[in-house]
Amino acid sequence: MKIQQALSHAKSRLIQSESPLLDAELLLAHVLVKSREFLITWPETDLTETEQQAFINLLEQRIIGHPIAHLIGSRAFWNFNLEVSPDVLIPRPETELLVEIILERLDENNLLLADLGTGSGAIALAIASERENWQIVATDLSEAALSIAKQNAKNLKLSNIEFRHGSWTEALEGKKSNEQNKKQNNELFDAIISNPPYIDKTDKHLSQGDVRFEPMQALVAEEKGLADLKQITTNAQKNLKPGAILLLEHGYQQGEVVRQLLEQSGYKEIQTYNDLAGLERVSIGRK
Ligand SMILES: C[S@@+](CC[C@H](N)C(=O)[O-])C[C@H]1O[C@@H](n2cnc3c(N)ncnc32)[C@H](O)[C@@H]1O
Repeated sequence: MKIQQALSHAKSRLIQSESPLLDAELLLAHVLVKSREFLITWPETDLTETEQQAFINLLEQRIIGHPIAHLIGSRAFWNFNLEVSPDVLIPRPETELLVEIILERLDENNLLLADLGTGSGAIALAIASERENWQIVATDLSEAALSIAKQNAKNLKLSNIEFRHGSWTEALEGKKSNEQNKKQNNELFDAIISNPPYIDKTDKHLSQGDVRFEPMQALVAEEKGLADLKQITTNAQKNLKPGAILLLEHGYQQGEVVRQLLEQSGYKEIQTYNDLAGLERVSIGRK
């Protein structure tokens, strides 16, 4: 079988996929350890028996719904590839908006930022790679997610990130041993960023597409998807410097309620940004 035949066979079998040719190319490029450009440039190349079998195995898994990112073990985000596994959310393109906003809003040197619920490390690593003189604290409640994020930091050779385990802002206070120390060493941040779980547990999208294979604790929050957003807006104030910002990703129908949550917690200059689809996706407030 040649590259061209393998791709057209896969395309005809991936009828459920929104992007059958792209899926087929990503899987075959992974098996051959080549770029997609190679496949397009050399369509007449013969596959070995082993390559053909490996490709068919991945194709069968894709047909039953496994995400491409899980099958090839990575997903492109910002300007690099991140390792991903079923333990982390597959980074989404709309999350790059958080990185863009931070880079546009903050241009001083030596800032201290936190990324709460870092998952694969996507947001923290993108910011750390763009601003090597900033220090980023990346946290998660999932130890499995933190180990993927640490591996990604190592792969990208980024050392300006510190990983901490714990629930939301509690992870930012984890290092101090007693109340006295806590008061003395209160570490304050120039920005806190988070893309927390924000989907309601009854949302029908949870039984469709890639999300069926992603960790529920990365996707779903109580109180119609608002519980974690509430907890972060309420608690992050004490970890922010005066004038520092809190930046949150949320569901496209949650803009209004997130603006209210920010207002109730005393934030100023509250603003919501739309994603590329024109949907309210990210809200910001200043302490
Ligand atoms: C929507 S995912 C975002 C992952 C990553 N930041 C991204 O944008 O791709 C939410 C993350 O929050 C983490 N999480 C869930 N509950 C948490 C909690 N109570 N404290 C800290 N992290 C939590 C999940 O493990 C998951 O990694």
